[in-house]
Amino acid sequence: MRFHLIGAFCVFAIFQLAYSEKKLRQCNSQPYIDLNRIYGGSNARPMEFPHMASLKIRYLNSHICGATLIDDQWVLTAAHCFSRTRAPYNWKIKLGEHSLNNPDSTERDFNVIKVIIHEDYNSQNQLNDIALIKLNQSVDFKTNNHLKPICLADMKFIVRSGYHCVVSGWGKGEKGSVVTDVLQKLDQPLLNYEQCAKAWEGIGWPVTNKHVCVGDLKSQQGVCSGDSGGPVQCRLANGEWMQVGVTSWTTNICTATGYAAVFTQVNAYLDWINKNIESN
Ligand SMILES: *[C@@H]1O[C@H](CO)[C@@H](O)[C@H](O)[C@H]1NC(C)=O
Repeated sequence: MRFHLIGAFCVFAIFQLAYSEKKLRQCNSQPYIDLNRIYGGSNARPMEFPHMASLKIRYLNSHICGATLIDDQWVLTAAHCFSRTRAPYNWKIKLGEHSLNNPDSTERDFNVIKVIIHEDYNSQNQLNDIALIKLNQSVDFKTNNHLKPICLADMKFIVRSGYHCVVSGWGKGEKGSVVTDVLQKLDQPLLNYEQCAKAWEGIGWPVTNKHVCVGDLKSQQGVCSGDSGGPVQCRLANGEWMQVGVTSWTTNICTATGYAAVFTQVNAYLDWINKNIESN
């Protein structure tokens, strides 16, 4: 009898594990990113980044931050995007966005019903700069097969230089303009923790082992304001693309040389993400 009970418990536990594994795996690890046209920052093709979302102030329809679709009803972004207000009704999410100024046939609007900011987010030094957004309804992937959740890097992903990574966002490309119209993509190398900590030593906020950084320390291109909350995704050795970081901060002079952009390291927060999705 005792054996049976334990047996039943084990079956249950295995089922639970398999279920959450399956949930995590319903993501798109093979986006058709056109690597030939990425260098130097360029317009993305429509739906080249089918997980990309725009977080907007609802009544102004104005883009504030990038974000990524990670599940049928959940979007991942940065906590600092909510410095104006945390109230869900002030926000909306647009999926399938390409041009901010022109309507795209791929666009889908969602209201926000929950904003979950990391409990240990510190607005003074931007530690734990991560947040989850619950949409007012699930994305119907059958009728919207152009929308796809991004895969998140798992615990096995080790940050080191050499990975091929891509950042995407509507952040300002040129002086004077706050955001660009069409979604931009930029090829950027991943830096290891030491390289990044060194680049910011004594001038930036603290860089910890829960950060990842990207940047070509010799070039003048990189992420900028308006890109916040968006992803850096990297290609693993097996060819799969994973979101590795959430854009957090960089210098406010986006064309300065020698600065690496700092991202919240996604796999350091996987437990937090899963726990919140399951309990909300
Ligand atoms: C969710 O929000 C969108 C955008 O405002 C709206 O069109 C849709 O009807 C809402 N869905 C539900 C279930 O309330």
